[in-house]
Amino acid sequence: MNSHLKVLKSEVNTQRLPRDFLTLSDFSSSDIMNLLTEALAIKDMQKKGIPHPFLKGKVLGMIFEKSSTRTRVSFEVGMLQLGGHAIFLSSKDIQLGRGETVADTAKVLSRYVDGIMVRTYGHDQLEEFAENATIPVINGLTDLHHPTQVLADLLTILEHKGELKGLKMCYIGDGNNNMTHSLMEGASKVGMHVSVACPKGYEPNSLITAKATEVANLSGCTITVTHDPFDAIQDADVVVTDVWASMGMEEEAERRLKDFVPYQVNSELCQHAKSDFIFLHCLPAHRGEEVTADILDGPHSVVFDEAENRLHAQKAILKALLGNG
Ligand code: CP
Ligand code: NVA
Repeated sequence: MNSHLKVLKSEVNTQRLPRDFLTLSDFSSSDIMNLLTEALAIKDMQKKGIPHPFLKGKVLGMIFEKSSTRTRVSFEVGMLQLGGHAIFLSSKDIQLGRGETVADTAKVLSRYVDGIMVRTYGHDQLEEFAENATIPVINGLTDLHHPTQVLADLLTILEHKGELKGLKMCYIGDGNNNMTHSLMEGASKVGMHVSVACPKGYEPNSLITAKATEVANLSGCTITVTHDPFDAIQDADVVVTDVWASMGMEEEAERRLKDFVPYQVNSELCQHAKSDFIFLHCLPAHRGEEVTADILDGPHSVVFDEAENRLHAQKAILKALLGNG
């Protein structure tokens, strides 16, 4: 048995998961540990060439209203390796893009496929989709959350650090974006401390911060939001950043380039993290903006393991939601 699996086995229990995967706050700490355990087991099977057709004959629909490389390919490959099939549905090509309602689209697709992944703008659009669907709905990124990415991030941290509990994660950059919110939710559930450093006016959503803080405090952890990146990164085990202008914010990109200059993750800043810190970025990255090339491509970076883990983490999510129990 893989050593990470042994660590987790004692912490898991079995309980019914929510039907949908919309945010990490909908899941308990043990749900998340169960998914990580499953992801490690499935990854192990794949690496050993053991077939794992848990979703034989199942079909996943994937609606994309925004661009994607990792999410699209990892879901599509994941379904194939699980014995199922995925259908890529660009919103430009389906009737949704010509004004068919979200509700009607959800109702119709629910009659054909076994699960739907949606990447869209407003999180309310995803919630409306889920309310009208009769099958599991997975959040493939909204403006507010990116939970499948963060499950892969937790898997990556666990593999590189051997544990999650008690570690300090530091996020530097745009506080008010999907990655920050899902990182705060996910890390607080697994007992990590989180410090966020962002420019004034770019703080994380206050409701999400309050809820994640409550969860973190339950396990004696803290969530702090500051405008001082040197303060935030002090003794961090995990350093994370993301683009300064997310998809849909193109018009603000020029202003953001100026506002975020002091929040670049570079070697000077990283000297204040622990000497064995790991660096994560969900990608795509802009070298020379939110992170310098020497950090992104350097010895502390685990970004390509992180990208690979999208596949393994999502196979665990798909098996849990679309499988037969
Ligand atoms: N990290 C991530 O979600 O990448 P894509 O936008 O390429 O899917
Ligand atoms: N915050 C980024 C994440 C991309 C995967 C965006 O929404 O564009």
